Amino acid sequence: MILLKLLFIMETLQFCFAYKILLVFPIPGGSHAILGEGYVRHLVEAGHEVTYITPLPRLKAMPNLRQIDVSANFELSLLDIINVEKLMKKEVDLKNLFHFKELMLTFANATITNPNVRKIMDDPKEKFDAVIVEWLYTEVYSGFSSLFGCPLIWSSSMDPHTMVLWLIDEAPNAAYTPDIICPENLLNFWQRVKNLWILLQRMLLLWSKLSKETSIYNEGFGPSADKRGVKLSPLTEVMYNGSLMLGNSHVSLGQAMTLPQNYKPILGYHIPETIPDLPKNLQQIMDNATHGVIYFSMGSMLKSKTIPLEIKKGLLAMFGELKQTVLWKFEEELSDLPKNVHIVQWAPQQSILAHSNCFLFITHGGLLSLTEAIHFGVPVIGVPMFADQFSNIDRAVGKGFAKRVDLDWDFVTNVKNAIDDMTADSRYRDTANELSFIYHNRVASPGAELVHWVEHVVLTRGAPHLRSPAIDVPFYQKLYLDLAAIIVAVIVTLMIVVQRIRRKKVNQRKQKKN
Ligand SMILES: *[C@@H]1O[C@H](CO)[C@@H](O)[C@H](O)[C@H]1NC(C)=O
Ligand SMILES: *[C@@H]1O[C@H](CO)[C@@H](O)[C@H](O)[C@H]1NC(C)=O
Ligand SMILES: *[C@@H]1O[C@H](CO)[C@@H](O)[C@H](O)[C@H]1NC(C)=O
Repeated sequence: MILLKLLFIMETLQFCFAYKILLVFPIPGGSHAILGEGYVRHLVEAGHEVTYITPLPRLKAMPNLRQIDVSANFELSLLDIINVEKLMKKEVDLKNLFHFKELMLTFANATITNPNVRKIMDDPKEKFDAVIVEWLYTEVYSGFSSLFGCPLIWSSSMDPHTMVLWLIDEAPNAAYTPDIICPENLLNFWQRVKNLWILLQRMLLLWSKLSKETSIYNEGFGPSADKRGVKLSPLTEVMYNGSLMLGNSHVSLGQAMTLPQNYKPILGYHIPETIPDLPKNLQQIMDNATHGVIYFSMGSMLKSKTIPLEIKKGLLAMFGELKQTVLWKFEEELSDLPKNVHIVQWAPQQSILAHSNCFLFITHGGLLSLTEAIHFGVPVIGVPMFADQFSNIDRAVGKGFAKRVDLDWDFVTNVKNAIDDMTADSRYRDTANELSFIYHNRVASPGAELVHWVEHVVLTRGAPHLRSPAIDVPFYQKLYLDLAAIIVAVIVTLMIVVQRIRRKKVNQRKQKKN
């Protein structure tokens, strides 16, 4: 009894402890930093000590936060790989996943050989209770969990897909689970075959780069493991040893699919609980817009200089004829603005979308922008530019809260038609509101779930009870190929035996006749 009480007190005490958490988000890109900063915010607010490996160490100093600068990763991408000349000569094609994976491996190698990161890796006094790493086409970073002897938590920035699910469970069945780059429904034979082909390509991608990943892993973590006096487990064991995967996904924006117990969808955790107020001038503009506001932002990728003048002028003229107010996020001053068009160089996107007069969002369709659209229930016109934006927007169109318009010479006319359609038809807005309800109607807020599951993993020393049995079962056993082999062997043996007996009888009959 006393022992039980003691145990209980120890448990409660443990809850009060701050955990040391290593957060590895080294991809040089704005949206990856926003996702990383979401983790920092929730974990620090919950009282934990966070060490955050980031190329954008831009957070204000906080007592429980230490930022490890890997901004050198930015130079790498600009100088070396996303070299325009190489892109134009088609030596590098970022739509090609093999090239993309190569780029991610370069980042991984640069991150774990970065002197700032090395200092932590080599210092035997550094200890962590859990490590959270963003998965993006490489498993190298899983080595931190082996190095520090603590549970591994994956963070996946997209809808759950083959390449992350086989790390904690198994590849989803291709017959009814379209790949993220295959947004069409699997309705007919050829679509199913195409989806299976994509799955095989994924496997090839993993296998073909595994030896390179392994050497980066061993050369990167090996020396530090020696200095710390620990044995580094092999990559192929550690990468399949994740305790948990926190996914930037939710069924409101993605698809309903079979998920293992240790996958937790926390889409929207990057959006704070209280949205900051709009600046005064924007507040007035939006309050005054009796016919609603159309918010137009192409993110930071599309630079204004690169838009042909003809299209800029055409857009301005077209916006000028609308009865709605247009807020255009653009880093350039334009002259002769129509009265209902306002250009802002900096836009607090969440606060704008949160305003009840916000009527329509024209966006490039990054996952974070679409998440914010659903969070605030605003319908979307999607103008995809690159990467996952095409499939994100196709999904949103399929869900019924978006229209897709491609960037070409008819852009102005097509956007005008899309605005007219969406003004006339309330279906888009209704659907956005329905999805927004589904998105918000959860047991707990995504931030609370994030903190809960990270703590759960630490408290249960890696949450082995959540581990999917599928991860330890080889391929041939899952498909019962061993049973099939036995059945085939038995049938073949029987056939041979029967044939021999028959032959013997025939021979005996022949002998009798003779
Ligand atoms: C990893 O980085 C180190 C140090 O910059 C370099 O010496 C090594 O060749 C790189 N390894 C690979 C596989 O790129
Ligand atoms: C796998 O994870 C568990 C729980 O964190 C840990 O105890 C074990 O040592 C890990 N195994 C390897 C090979 O990393
Ligand atoms: C908003 O409307 C008020 C009252 O009609 C007017 O005084 C003010 O100038 C308007 N503000 C803007 C930014 O349009």
